[in-house]
Amino acid sequence: MPNSEPGGSEINAESYAEEVAAALANADSEIGGDLVYELECNLCHLQGDGSLSPLFFGLADFAAERRPPLSAEQYLYEAILYPGLHLVEGYTNAMPNNYDERLSRQEIGHIIAYLLTFAADETG
Ligand code: HEC
Repeated sequence: MPNSEPGGSEINAESYAEEVAAALANADSEIGGDLVYELECNLCHLQGDGSLSPLFFGLADFAAERRPPLSAEQYLYEAILYPGLHLVEGYTNAMPNNYDERLSRQEIGHIIAYLLTFAADETG
């Protein structure tokens, strides 16, 4: 079955492309880091053994492979705004589903920039 996005159309290389480019235009990973702690994403994603929530470590390396043909940035955008659309294998949809309302697109861009600083060899 083809994956679909909120509008119901199929996921393709153009999915979210314009929104993501706009969100990333002035993205600042430091602001993104502050947001991740303010919003307490870190409580699920940056501590523990990764059994309840996938840890951010390594995202810069594998985000582009999670949901082809989405780019790393497009995948992260979707994962934050529409967490129920595609679950990381082995996890349930325990992620809050309201960041769409709580965050501006610019803030999402800052967070994506921050998440892409997590390379596999950085273990925190
Ligand atoms: C209550 C715990 C919880 C909180 C808080 C939370 N998440 Fe998640 N998140 C999850 C779980 C569980 C998954 C795996 C299921 C899924 O794919 O939605 C996930 C998946 C993700 C993924 C995909 C990761 C991957 O390895 O592909 C990203 C990116 C993400 N979350 C970002 C965030 C950001 C950014 C925030 C804060 C704005 C946040 N999450 C808050 C639990 C949480």
